[in-house]
Amino acid sequence: MPVHIVVGGFFGDEGKGKITAYFSTKYRPEASIRTGATNAGHTVVHNGVKWKLRAVPSSFVNKETKLYIARGALIHIGVFLSEVEKLGVSNRIKIDYATGVITDEHIEKEKRDSYLAKKIGSTCTGVGAATSDRVLRRLLLARDYKELEPYTTDTQIEVIEIIEKGGLLLVEATQGYWLSLYHGTYPYTTSRDTTASAVLSEIGLGPRSVDRITVVFKAYITRVGGGPLPGEIPIEEAEKLEWIEYGTVTGRPRRVAPFNRELALRAVKANTATDVAITKLDKIFPEARCKTRWIDLPASARKWIEDVEDELKVPVSVIGTGDDTICTIDRSEEVGL
Ligand code: GTP
Ligand code: MG
Repeated sequence: MPVHIVVGGFFGDEGKGKITAYFSTKYRPEASIRTGATNAGHTVVHNGVKWKLRAVPSSFVNKETKLYIARGALIHIGVFLSEVEKLGVSNRIKIDYATGVITDEHIEKEKRDSYLAKKIGSTCTGVGAATSDRVLRRLLLARDYKELEPYTTDTQIEVIEIIEKGGLLLVEATQGYWLSLYHGTYPYTTSRDTTASAVLSEIGLGPRSVDRITVVFKAYITRVGGGPLPGEIPIEEAEKLEWIEYGTVTGRPRRVAPFNRELALRAVKANTATDVAITKLDKIFPEARCKTRWIDLPASARKWIEDVEDELKVPVSVIGTGDDTICTIDRSEEVGL
């Protein structure tokens, strides 16, 4: 199984960080690569310790896994270096020579842009400004910065060689299908495509290398910033349901809506999902909290999952029942993966 992609199916923050971290402990991938940029924050809780990540792949929890940041991704040098130091991964993380670099000027430029900051509700982390500089061929890349030299390599060839030798590459996408610049709710989108095909392009791999595409959904939907959100419920109601969340990067409260099968089905089709992961089942069925076996779930929760499978026509392989990687029900083998 050379390449396994984990990608978001709603508006980001579905819990890809947790699912990727879980997969990295289960499948022990030789390497893991993160795409996207520092506007996306992943939260990983492993062995009771909570980590907030904006650059390093969530698979860092597996100490044997080599860590990469894709060529088409963007980093902010300060965020990258401080995270690498905090996590103690400097001896096993590499970025591509041609990974783009976000500067403080990019961040300032977005903060001054009231269309982005107010109407679109951008995270204002400089990602769009840096992306537009890249399109205009002005952006400086990792190879242009002396302090990044110890970390730079040709990530494309390194991951191709790993795959050719039969090693597993776990790909961590960021954000979600409906935030895609092309397929999402434009103009209320992010500045890149967020599909499985797009993350392959960011890495420099072709579609035939891929065996498994796990699309991650949360048991309800959250969204930050502006734009449509079908079935949106008032913040006070979300608070009562304990569905309220605060952005990892911005600290803003996330807007909330119930699970939406139409949105999920389109994301499944567009990503050619082999399987689906559902996180936060414990938030709609509190009795499911931190269960690790399918048979220990309440019947109503099992029925809810089976209905999702019927409508999406793909198996639900992994179910999150708590924020810790341990709080996971894994049916991958049972459903033939
Ligand atoms: P982006 O790349 O920014 O889209 O982020 P993400 O998909 O990695 O999700 P993020 O970590 O930003 O948000 C998910 C939140 O849900 C985090 O606070 C996780 O700790 C939490 N979480 C993930 N899975 C579960 C689960 O099964 N149950 C509970 N209770 N919390 C979970
Ligand atoms: Mg997030």
